[in-house]
Amino acid sequence: MSSTFHVRGGRPLDGEITVRGAKNLVSKAMVAALLGEGPSVLQSVPDIRDVQIVSELLSIHGVKVERDVAAGTIHMDPSNVERAHVVDIDAHAGSSRIPILFCGPLLHRLGEAIIPDLGGCRIGDRPINYHLDVLRNFGAVVDKRELGIYITAPHGLHGTKIHLEYPSVGATEQVLLTAVRAQGITELTNAAVEPEIEDLIAVLQKMGALISLQTDRTITIEGVESLGGYQHVALPDRIEAASWACAALVTKGSVFVRGAEQKPMATFLNIFRKVGGGLDITEEGIRFFHPGSPLRAIAVETDVHPGLMTDWQQPLVVALTQADGISIVHETVYENRLGFTSALNEMGAHIQVYRECLGGSSCRFGRSNYNHSAVVSGPKPLHAADITVPDLRGGFSYLVAALGAEGESTIRGIDLIDRGYESFREKLTALGAEFWEN
Ligand code: EPU
Repeated sequence: MSSTFHVRGGRPLDGEITVRGAKNLVSKAMVAALLGEGPSVLQSVPDIRDVQIVSELLSIHGVKVERDVAAGTIHMDPSNVERAHVVDIDAHAGSSRIPILFCGPLLHRLGEAIIPDLGGCRIGDRPINYHLDVLRNFGAVVDKRELGIYITAPHGLHGTKIHLEYPSVGATEQVLLTAVRAQGITELTNAAVEPEIEDLIAVLQKMGALISLQTDRTITIEGVESLGGYQHVALPDRIEAASWACAALVTKGSVFVRGAEQKPMATFLNIFRKVGGGLDITEEGIRFFHPGSPLRAIAVETDVHPGLMTDWQQPLVVALTQADGISIVHETVYENRLGFTSALNEMGAHIQVYRECLGGSSCRFGRSNYNHSAVVSGPKPLHAADITVPDLRGGFSYLVAALGAEGESTIRGIDLIDRGYESFREKLTALGAEFWEN
């Protein structure tokens, strides 16, 4: 399939699309299936590349994976988990960050784990030090080798006390997926509490795990001897929903996102309304629309849940280029997630980035050299450009900008968007967008 996309912008997106399960839960719930003695069934699974990658990683470890793409169902039978060949593992090097989460389950099932070099979006250094520290805390021995990381647990995995210096989503998941079958009690403080993590806890509870989440970001896990399979419907993708919401605003359109859920999106909905966007919130989904009147500038900062998600930031910035006045966006989760703004400037936006923490509070990047605050002056009409997708969310944001721009834009590397946005071509067509690929 070609990876160059041409978009003729300037038409409102209008219509309805559906979001299915959240990429950032589905992949982790699939890893959790490895821990069960019996088969698991996950529903509302989107047809995205990350799901394909995790399916392959499970398969090379002996899990029988059967997928009904149209129905969005995955059956995973881990009865015959086995060691994977190093070449098969290495074939997945650079494809995703999910392999690091296989460590705990593989250590429990096989006594060892080999992890390839990781991939994922280039939005900062994205180190794995928290993950490796967590595993060592449980008693694992980590050996970094040329072809990846080799992890063993010569004396088994034991419950422990862990404090995260930052409430990392991935490190919290690492603790959960390791502690549920470790011997004894694990107490995790300063844990991430994103809705996707609560949903993973729900999956693990269905499997027989004992996990309690306190109000102060503390999670206590009592290890159990064995776990069963699960049957679960993944929570909807609130990042995808917000991305389409911003597309509605930028194109002065109206998009009903079937499946979008209010509660996990509450913070985004407040911001959307403050900017001047229109909302109809129903049980079936949420309609996001441009009200016809000018949009308003705002000051926002990204944060861990329940703050404004970093993954909402990029499409929101595109919307703010159309707001009346000066908006400030302070990115506090990733040190390098504003690089995508230079292409928006080529399209006519006026965005300046700064090393300082702008907009009120100071964050852990404040004394570093990272451009992690942006000042967006609007409204600035966008015009077509020839741009290349930088990362998943940045890529979708370029698509949004091109849809709102006058003229014909060329977007290169569009395949990256398939990692996390299900059937986005079909959805664009349903909403009346004009585009073609060659
Ligand atoms: N961090 C470390 N060391 C680590 C792990 C994280 O310093 O070992 C730092 C990161 O560099 C970052 C911060 O901690 O500055 C937060 O990272 P976190 O671990 O929370 O992120 P993640 O688990 O790698 C997941 C999502 C991201 C999403 C973040 C924050 C998945 C597969 N990825 O990443 O989603 O932005 O949580 O909510 O769940 C995306 O979907 O496009 C995406 C990037």
